[in-house]
Amino acid sequence: MENPNRRNVLVTGGALGALGALTMAAPANASALWTWSPKGSVAGDGTGADPKGVWDPEADELVASLLDAGVVPDVNKELRKWTKNGQTLPSGLPSELRQFIERARQMPSWADEGKLATAFEFNEKRGLYLGVTYGFASGMMSTVIPREARAVYYSKGGADMRDRITKTAKLGYDIGTENAYADNGEMIVTCVKTRLAHAGVRHLLPKSPHWTKVADEEKPISQADMMVTWHSLPTTVMQNLVKWKVPIPANESAAFLHSWQVCAHMLGIKDEYIPNSWDEANAQAKQVLDPILAPTPEGIKLADMLLNLATIVPGGPLKYVTRPILGALTRYVLGDQIANWLKIPRYPLWDTVFQVGWEPFIRVREGLLELDRAPGVVKQFYWMFDELLRLAALLVLSGANFPISIEIPTGNNPN
Ligand code: HEM
Repeated sequence: MENPNRRNVLVTGGALGALGALTMAAPANASALWTWSPKGSVAGDGTGADPKGVWDPEADELVASLLDAGVVPDVNKELRKWTKNGQTLPSGLPSELRQFIERARQMPSWADEGKLATAFEFNEKRGLYLGVTYGFASGMMSTVIPREARAVYYSKGGADMRDRITKTAKLGYDIGTENAYADNGEMIVTCVKTRLAHAGVRHLLPKSPHWTKVADEEKPISQADMMVTWHSLPTTVMQNLVKWKVPIPANESAAFLHSWQVCAHMLGIKDEYIPNSWDEANAQAKQVLDPILAPTPEGIKLADMLLNLATIVPGGPLKYVTRPILGALTRYVLGDQIANWLKIPRYPLWDTVFQVGWEPFIRVREGLLELDRAPGVVKQFYWMFDELLRLAALLVLSGANFPISIEIPTGNNPN
């Protein structure tokens, strides 16, 4: 019988939360019909072109030329000096790249400072729930998004998942900071560097014999793929918070969406594909995300790595305690079908603890239910639930603690 132990639960909960902020993915022959109208987008109109055939030509051509010229290691060194949104760009960057970044770091005309300020309030109030949903909903979901799973697995980052997770967590941290998109913030830097990293992946991954053998597209990370992954983040997070009946005022919910709409724009997603409301986001997700979720050998291996946190959490034989807890949480959040795809076993004790205890635990935390009236399992495991929340949030916050620079990859995963 698994024996819950406070330290083990803490450590694994935190690491998983961090993963959540990072994860993204795609399925086997995942490709849903695109009929979503640009009328529901932040642009309000557009050509309605199927985003499966749209990438990011401006960034892609530029980064391909830098890779072909062999200057990316120097460029990455210079990019490390660019940390704040409004900072003067390092003088050693090639001039075409400087010009591109100057354009790419401009905020969209529809960005609303008031909403972004409210989004920060929401992140502060709900940071604990956001950590665990980014981790267990978004993060683990990315492993059943076949295209994302394959791209992540066969790209350079796939060879060092710990580094990748740290870098991805930075985006989850930055978007929740007070000055995220302001001159002294870092979210624009993170988005524009990620845009460059994705352009690098588009150039490099088609040269990987491993990726080309299994991929169902010639070039990865189309605008459609980007929106799929985007929905695995804010749309899925909000759906879970609603399901758990976390009380969220309408203006905070809209503000959280807005911060992610701006993120999508800064990542190079066209405005005509970015939903303008939760209703539109849910409708688009139903069309592009839900039908493509599927297991792949790569995704199963990635999920295993993510769950096997004992191997990336320094210092302990935590495996026997942590996997059951994290596996049960994944099953609870993503459901039986996805858990089975990922070959996550059933853990009768922990499965029941989450099923019976999680929602009442949230109600107790929110002051909507007295602990005395909650099911016994809530009293027994309150500390565990609470620490899972805290550590997941802490892990996302750890993005603040040391300098992390997202880089343009120079190769693929050799394995
Ligand atoms: C890199 C976020 C969509 C595949 C990154 C990084 C971030 C990020 C923060 C930098 C981390 C690192 O360098 O390790 C996002 C967000 C997305 C998105 C927020 C959508 C809203 C996608 C999609 C795919 C993808 C759709 C594939 C289908 C990758 C790969 C890397 C990467 C392969 C590079 C890893 C390497 O350096 O080898 N992404 N991403 N991403 N992303 Fe994404």
